[in-house]
Formats: sequence, structure tokens, C-alpha cells
Amino acid sequence: MLSSKTIENIQPPPITEVKSWLAGRIFPADKPLIDLCQAVPSYSPPQGLIDHLKNSMDDPSSFKYSPDEGLSEVRDAVSHWYQRHYHSAPTADQLCLTIGASQAFWLTMTTLCQPHDEVIVQLPAYFDHPMGLQALGIKVVFAPFNPDNSGLPDLNTIQSLITPKTKAILLVTPSNPTGAVISPRLVNELFELAQSNNISLVLDETYNAFIGTPPHHLFRRKDWPNNFIQIASFGKTFALTGLRCGALIADQQFIEQALKVQDSMVVCQPRTAQIALEFGCQNLDNWIAQNSIKMQQRHDHFKSIFIEAKTDFELTASGSFFAWIRHPWDHLSGRQAAKQLLEEENIICLPGEAFGPGLENYLRLSFGNIELEQIEGAIKRLQHI
Ligand SMILES: Cc1ncc(COP(=O)(O)O)c(C=O)c1O
Repeated sequence: MLSSKTIENIQPPPITEVKSWLAGRIFPADKPLIDLCQAVPSYSPPQGLIDHLKNSMDDPSSFKYSPDEGLSEVRDAVSHWYQRHYHSAPTADQLCLTIGASQAFWLTMTTLCQPHDEVIVQLPAYFDHPMGLQALGIKVVFAPFNPDNSGLPDLNTIQSLITPKTKAILLVTPSNPTGAVISPRLVNELFELAQSNNISLVLDETYNAFIGTPPHHLFRRKDWPNNFIQIASFGKTFALTGLRCGALIADQQFIEQALKVQDSMVVCQPRTAQIALEFGCQNLDNWIAQNSIKMQQRHDHFKSIFIEAKTDFELTASGSFFAWIRHPWDHLSGRQAAKQLLEEENIICLPGEAFGPGLENYLRLSFGNIELEQIEGAIKRLQHI
């Protein structure tokens, strides 16, 4: 088959690769598989949302296209959700509903950049970001990983990487894979750095509902639309990752340009996702708050047991959903280490190098999809190593 060299040079999708290691394996009842691989909530959306979706199926309009940017009433509901959760909000016109944060990312980068432009990406990076940028012919300029700083960005380092070709600083907060959260103060400084260089600060805030406070206060600034773009996901927030529910939040004129790509790419977010999103934004604040606490408890529990357990693995960073650990085998890559954990301890997790070059000594554990009671068992297995 004739595929492009650009695409051939991109790493395979890491979750698909790691899950392929499970093919043909059977796990004994006394040592079942512990899946620390994918960042999905372990719970389902609440019954109210499910019933609402079922009822919507009787309405023929549920099966039709919506405007490219999404239904105005849904964008209004999202805007109000932001007002409650960030205490300041984009307007409905500054919102385009997308097929997950994934498509919001593509809309952002196709609208912002031309081939050979540069985007600064903090290591460890959410793997789909470098993969997508490479596919678009955009140069990925990695900001180095600093384990002593939980992998958080350093303002001076980011500044030193800006060139005349830089179009954006792309960051994830709370981070996938480390769980670390960039402070609102640093976010503001990064915004001002972007502003003074006439580039964009692009924040992927997929996990914004799981830290209990707004990740930043940029929406309070009147000038935010000039230099800030947010990539939003509602998949984790409302536990509907499979409905593919996200948004691009940006300056209205940027959205108008992005709609050219939206139209040719997907036309619109599916109606079902919009129906669920509107219901979620209007009815599920308490449910989100409870799940945010649940996820933080999982993290706190994980962290305290992990530290007490004194394994040969080192906890470099952690937060809601994720832990970023250093494995003890200097001679093994992250891939080999992850395979060893599967062979010996029936645990699957992601290799560090999936998150960028030079990260072979690390593994990402996601405890978002295992129950509180399973956490101790998972760490006990790491003690056997
Ligand atoms: C940082 C980050 N961005 C984007 C996504 C994709 O989100 P969505 O399912 O909304 O496309 C994920 C999913 O794990 C993620 O961790």
C-alpha cells in the first residue's frame, strides 16, 4: 500500500499497541488483569442523562445535521457551564463543538499553522499532539522534561524556544501523562509570553473537571481571545468518551476560519453528543463535583500507598487520573518494561517513550479506570518486582 512517508514515520497509536499485547492471553482468577492503560472514567454517565438520550431518539431532528459550530442552545449551555466552573466564560460565539478534544486539536492546528511552522510542546507530551502535528507537517519543538519540576513548563525555557516560525505554545493542564497542574499564575505568565511574541497559547484542558478549582483565570481577561485557544473535552467530564464530545474555544474570528476546516472535516459534532452535552451542562454540576472528589481520592490513596510501599519504582509526578513513574530497569525501554509488567504481574500501562523522545525510563499509570479498592492490589504487584 502506498502511504506517505510522513505518516509512516509517526509512532503507532500507543493504546492500540499496548492493548494488542493482550491478544490471546487469559488471566487467572486469582491474579486478574489490572488495566492501568487508558484514561477513561470507570463509571457510566448518570441514569438521567441516559434516559434523556433515549427519549431524544423519538425526535426526528436528533438524526439531522446541526449548524457546523453546533446548536446555539447547546453552546449557550456550555458557556453557562464555564461561567459556573471558571467564574468567567467564553460566549457561545467563541465556541465550536467538536468530535472530542481530539478534533478540536486538529481544528486548532490546521487553522493556526502552515506546514513547517513550529509549535512548542512540553515533554512529556500527550502522544496525539506530536502525532497530529507530524501528520500536518508542523515542526514539533519539544521543551525538555524536568523530573524535578514534575514535568511542568518553565517560562524561561519556553521563551528560549520561540523563533520567528513559532505559532503556538501547546500545553496540557492538568497533564496527561503526569497529572501535574500548571498554576494559574504560570498560565497567566505563559499567556503574556505568547502575547508579547504574537503567538497563541493553546491549552488542552481535557481533565479540567477533576481538580476542584478552575485551572486558570484567563477568561477574566478582556484580551484573552487575541492569544489564547482552549481545547476542551467533555468525554471525561460526563463519562461519555465514546460519544466524542469536545469543543474549540477561541476568538470568534478564529472560529469563523476554523469552520472552513470543520465543514470539510466532519460538518458538525453528532447531534447525540450535543443532546448529551446540553443535558450534562444544565443538570450535572453536583454529579461532576462528586466524581472530581472520587478521582482525587483515588489519587491521594494511590500516592500514600505507593510512597509507603517503598517499591523499586519512583513516583516522579502524579495527580487526578495519572501517575508518572520511573521504572527500575535502566537497560530496558519503557516498552520492554511495560511488557515485563504484563508478563510477570498482569498489569498493563503505557511506556514513557509514547509521550516523547528520551522518556524510556518512565511508565504512565492511569488509575481513573480502576476502583479505589483495586489500587492497593496494583501497588502490591509492583512490590514483587
Ligand atoms: C490530554 C488529552 N487530550 C485529548 C484527549 C482526547 O479527548 P477526546 O476523547 O475528547 O477526543 C485525551 C484523551 O485521553 C487526553 O488525555
